[in-house]
Formats: sequence, C-alpha cells, structure tokens
Amino acid sequence: MSLPSTFPLPASSQLSPSPIPPLTSIPSIGFGTYRLPSPRDASLTPLLQTAIDTGYTLIDTAQVYRNQTKIAHALRDIPNYQRSQICITTKLGMTHLGPKTRDAIETCLKELQVEYIDLFLIHWPGAAKLPPHSIKHKELRRESYETLQQAQRDGLIRAWGISNFQLHHLHELDDIGLPGPAVHQMEIHPLYFESTAKIRKWCTDRGIHLQAYSSFGGGELQQRADFMSEMAEIGGRDPYETLLLWAFAHGFSILPRSAHCDRVRKNYVLDCKPLSSEQVLQIDGLGSKYREKKM
Ligand SMILES: NC(=O)c1ccc[n+]([C@@H]2O[C@H](COP(=O)([O-])OP(=O)(O)OC[C@H]3O[C@@H](n4cnc5c(N)ncnc54)[C@H](OP(=O)(O)O)[C@@H]3O)[C@@H](O)[C@H]2O)c1
Repeated sequence: MSLPSTFPLPASSQLSPSPIPPLTSIPSIGFGTYRLPSPRDASLTPLLQTAIDTGYTLIDTAQVYRNQTKIAHALRDIPNYQRSQICITTKLGMTHLGPKTRDAIETCLKELQVEYIDLFLIHWPGAAKLPPHSIKHKELRRESYETLQQAQRDGLIRAWGISNFQLHHLHELDDIGLPGPAVHQMEIHPLYFESTAKIRKWCTDRGIHLQAYSSFGGGELQQRADFMSEMAEIGGRDPYETLLLWAFAHGFSILPRSAHCDRVRKNYVLDCKPLSSEQVLQIDGLGSKYREKKM
C-alpha cells in the first residue's frame, strides 16, 4: 500500500472568481527551510536540487526565515525545476499583521521571484510589539484575513491559511463566518498530540488541512534518547522514519528539514511501509508518558 502524495483542501477555501487556479490539494511532503542555508552564506542549490530530484513538491519558507531570495536564486539554478510543479508556501511576519499584509505579500512575491504564491499563511496570531492581551491583535488579524481573501481574488495567492493558532483564535474565525483558511500549520509530533486534540478537531470538523511542523521537535527529540529508542522499537525501524509515518497515519502533511542531502532523501518516506494501526495507537499514547506541553 502506498501513502498519499497529496491531501485535499476544503472547497470553502477555494474562492472564485480568481485569475489563477485555486489550490485544491497539498503535497503530503514539503521541504522545511527554517535556519537554512546553514551557514547563512552557503548556497541552497544542492539541498533544493536533492529535494526536487527526490520528489518533494512543496517548499516551506517564511518572511522571518530571511531566505526567500536565496530560495529564488537556488531554484533558478536547478535545470529540472518547473514552477507549476512546486507548491511554494510562505508566511506573514508578526510585524506585518494588519495593514501591512498586502505589502508583505508583494515583498514575498518579489523576493521569491514568482507571480503567485501557492499558500500564504499567517505565521502567528499575534502582532509584534503589542502587549499579549491587547484587543488590537484581533482587529489586525481581521484586516489580514480580508487582505488575504482579496489577494486570492487578485491572483497573488492560490490559498491562505493560519499557523500556531490557539482555540480562541479559531473560534473567532467561526464568529466572523469567514470562508476559509485552507491549512493550519502547527507543531505536531507524539509529544504534542493529546494536547493539540481540541485544535485538531476544530480543524478537521471544517475540513481544514493540518500540516505538521517540527516532526523531529526541531532536532530536540533526538536529545530524548529514551523517547527515540521507544519510537524505533514500536516502529521496528529508524525512529525518524517512524515519526514521519506516524504523522501520515493521522492525515497530517509533513515538512522535514535537513541540511544534509542524504537525510533529505531519507526523509522522503512516501514509499515506506505504513505503520499498522496498533503501532499508531501505541505512539499516540506516548505524550502523557514523556510529558506534553499544555496548549
Ligand atoms: N509555522 C511555524 O511556526 C513553524 C515553526 C517551525 C518549523 N516550521 C516549518 O517546519 C519545518 C520543519 O521543522 P523544524 O525546522 O523545526 O525541524 P525538524 O524537521 O523537526 O527537525 C530538523 C532537525 O532534525 C535533524 N534531522 C532531519 N532529518 C533527520 C534524520 N533523518 N536523521 C537525523 N536527524 C535529522 C536536522 O539536522 P540536520 O540538518 O543536521 O540534518 C535538524 O536538526 C521548518 O523548517 C519550517 O519550514 C514552521
């Protein structure tokens, strides 16, 4: 049995009319680019070339990663890169929530050297430089939602989504009655599974696709030797592969990041044997054993 290469996106997120085709599905494996290239002055070309040759069809970046221009330069140097075959995701920085959203989209288009962005996410629900409980955050979010919808109608983005939203931010979307975010990108791995249950349910009830970031805890899980050996034991294979296959088993797309070409290839797990439902259940329960973050 092979794993799905894409996941569907909700019809409610596909606005029309739009001069460009809406994004109707999302690749199940994307290449994460946080902290890449490393070192900062290195080229991204070998990594992106490897990712494309291996089969990755999504690249995940963000304004705050400050690597959009480097990604554009790297893609320009890759002979078999075809813009229409790659889903480019980027994210609105916290300093641009609200009235600066349109400027941010235009800057991303310029830096990425593309005519449209496939998926544009609000990176964080809060704005920079405001007290955490200020009511201004909500007003600024609302302005960003409206700007993103307009950008979709203008053909600058194919879909928009959210990232790192808590339950009360999601309820606010219900109150506004907004046609939608297509994707919620959030940190999900076995240690943040039970604690994210309510947020995940809110999204799945509305068909909003869940994209899991930091499947390896941003590299921190490898320091939990006990957890990683249990992962290898339950999965009966490499613990990194197990973590990615566990996410797939729940219908999350994944964004593994590595600065090493051999790992970029290894993390492309679409052809691997899926975990059994018993293995998935065992891993689901590990959060309480290894202490989860409360959300
Ligand atoms: N929306 C958000 O707020 C948000 C937040 C965080 C991340 N993200 C997105 O999600 C992507 C992935 O998350 P992440 O960057 O936090 O990291 P991650 O993918 O959870 O972990 C990356 C770390 O794991 C190591 N690694 C990768 N593959 C490995 C393998 N097969 N074996 C052993 N070690 C391996 C990497 O080391 P090497 O580089 O040395 O291989 C690196 O230290 C990001 O790059 C970004 O695109 C989004």
